[in-house]
Parts: sequence; structure tokens; C-alpha cells
Amino acid sequence: MKRFILLSLAVTAISGLASTASAAAKPKIGLSFSDFATERWARERDEMSKLLKDAGYEVVVQEANHDAKLQNDQIKNMVTQGAKVIIVVAEDGDSAATAVEEVAKKGVKVIAYDRLIKTSKIAAYVSFDNVDVGRNQAKGVLAVKSSGNFVLLGGSPTDNNAHLFRQGQMEVLNPLIKSGKIKVVADQWVENWDPANSKKLMENILTATGRKFDAVVASNDGTALGALEAMKTAGLAGKVPISGQDATEAGCNSIARGELTVTILKDTRKLTPLAVQLAVKLAKGEKNLGLSDFKLAELTGDKKKKGQVPCKFLQVFQVTKENLKKLVVDSGFQTYEGVYKDVPGAPPK
Ligand code: GAL
Repeated sequence: MKRFILLSLAVTAISGLASTASAAAKPKIGLSFSDFATERWARERDEMSKLLKDAGYEVVVQEANHDAKLQNDQIKNMVTQGAKVIIVVAEDGDSAATAVEEVAKKGVKVIAYDRLIKTSKIAAYVSFDNVDVGRNQAKGVLAVKSSGNFVLLGGSPTDNNAHLFRQGQMEVLNPLIKSGKIKVVADQWVENWDPANSKKLMENILTATGRKFDAVVASNDGTALGALEAMKTAGLAGKVPISGQDATEAGCNSIARGELTVTILKDTRKLTPLAVQLAVKLAKGEKNLGLSDFKLAELTGDKKKKGQVPCKFLQVFQVTKENLKKLVVDSGFQTYEGVYKDVPGAPPK
């Protein structure tokens, strides 16, 4: 229920924007997703589709199943179907740039959603403060274990966010590494953010380190839960702190059961209306998007990247067992039943 109050407020704001356009045939708006494997993407597809349809727009949705080339073809295909604005969750921030540069020549506006597409030809980039995600992940683990052997599990290397999370994590860990309090005994990146890949990597790390590590800084709930499956067989689940992200139902349930230590709430109910409002403005040819310009070199950490892009980054929140109910359940982001399933001694509803 709470989830839809926030959305209906957004609908009113957006319908106001779109009313004048309803007379003429509405341009199509495309939604291009890298995958629906991670819980959040399907939810954001539904939220954005509803907001756009309620504002009277036709919506085309396509999923690329982690195939960057296929995603580029899908983006170009949406343009031949008449899409004038496309919201993209990019599988690969470099590869998607080629499709964006091609369709931008035809006047098509592309919004990079959550993940940066590395070209100044995007019309906008909206996301969360991804570096702060990393800081809060590392701090959440350090709150439980502040010295010893640490394992780092990065996200998908083709996702610019994975590097921003790592940047935030290292900002917090580096002083402790330099002082010798922490030793990084394994550092791997999880292709496609795939929990199964993460489990395999953790099995190898358990063997390679002789199970001698004290903490794991993982980069999202999915990959952390994959790693925890392997750690469970080694009797380390619930004993060794580990970080996640996204406040997924399974991740929050794992926190309630004392296995996952920390996750990061990124309230997508604020990001979807923002992206839709921008898409409607762009569809209407509006120039003033109310965003701030950021240099691509800064956002990518790559000095060779030229140009700047209009951006907006939303705040993130650290979630632990202590504030889980308040931040995630009472706010309506996840259900009480989902978070406290099979949790003895769960707090009252
Ligand atoms: C990141 C996103 C995270 C996580 C991950 C896996 O780009 O910011 O929230 O979900 O992808 O899909």
C-alpha cells in the first residue's frame, strides 16, 4: 500500500507534465534493461511502465539477458519502432555508448538509469550516490570486524557502478590496509553480478586461504548471498561479517537471521519517478532538466574520457539488524512477512 501512495503522488506530478501532449500521437518511450536477474530491475520496470502509461505514453520494454551486443541491437530496434526517448540500464557502460552515439544522431534522447553509459551523448544520468554505497558497505563490516584478513568481492567489471562501489570501499579500507591492521587476502570481481559465479569464487577463496579470513566486503545482496552459500558449508556464515546492497527481500531476511551483516537501501521509489519525469520533459523537447553537469573523467575515473553529462544522484542508507524494520519494513520498501520469514524472535509487526 505505502509503495503505491509514493507512486500515485508521482503520477499526479507527471500527468501534469504530459497533459498537453495527449492530443497529438504520443511518442513511444523505450525501457532497455540489462537483465531481470537482480530483484530490483523487474520492480523498476513495473514502476516506470505504470508511471509512463498513466501519463499516456506508449512503452516498449526489452531485456538483454546480460548480452551487451543484444542490448545495443534492442536500443536501435526501439528507435526504428518510433521510440524518441529511451531509459537504459546498461549491461556494459562502454559498449552501450556506441548505440547511444548512433541513435543520438537521429535526435533520440537516452537516459542512463542507475548505471553510467560512458558518452557525453546521453541526455541525462540518474542514479544513487554509488561511492557512498561503497563507504557504507565497508563501514558496516568494520563495525563488526576492524582488523584481520579481508576478502573483497567486486561486482560486474563492465558495470561502472561496480568501480564506484569499490572506490568508496577502498576510501574507508585503505588507511587500515596501510597501517597493516587489514590484509586483503583475496580480491575477485563477479561477472554479471551472478550469485552462482560468486559462490564458485568463494569456494576457491575458501580453499586458497585455508578458510583463514575475518571479513568479506561484497558489493550487492545477490553476490553476498551466493558467497554465503559457500561460507555456510565451511561453517563461517554468521561468524564472518559480509556486506551487500539493494535491501532485497532475501538480503534483508539474511540480515534478520544474522548472516548478512549490512545492506544498502537505495529507495528506487524515488528514482523511477525522477527518470520518468525526465523522459516526459525530453519527449516534449524541454531543455531545462534541472540537473547538474559532471565530468565523464570524474564519473569513470578515466582521465581520457572527455565531456560532461547532466546528472542527479540520490541518497543511500546503511541497513543493519538494528534499523532493518524501521528503514525497510516500516517504510514499505519490503514486507514484514518477506523480511522476517522463518526468523525466531522477530520484532512485533
Ligand atoms: C548495480 C546496481 C546495484 C545492483 C547491481 C546488480 O549497477 O546499482 O543496485 O543491483 O547492479 O544488478
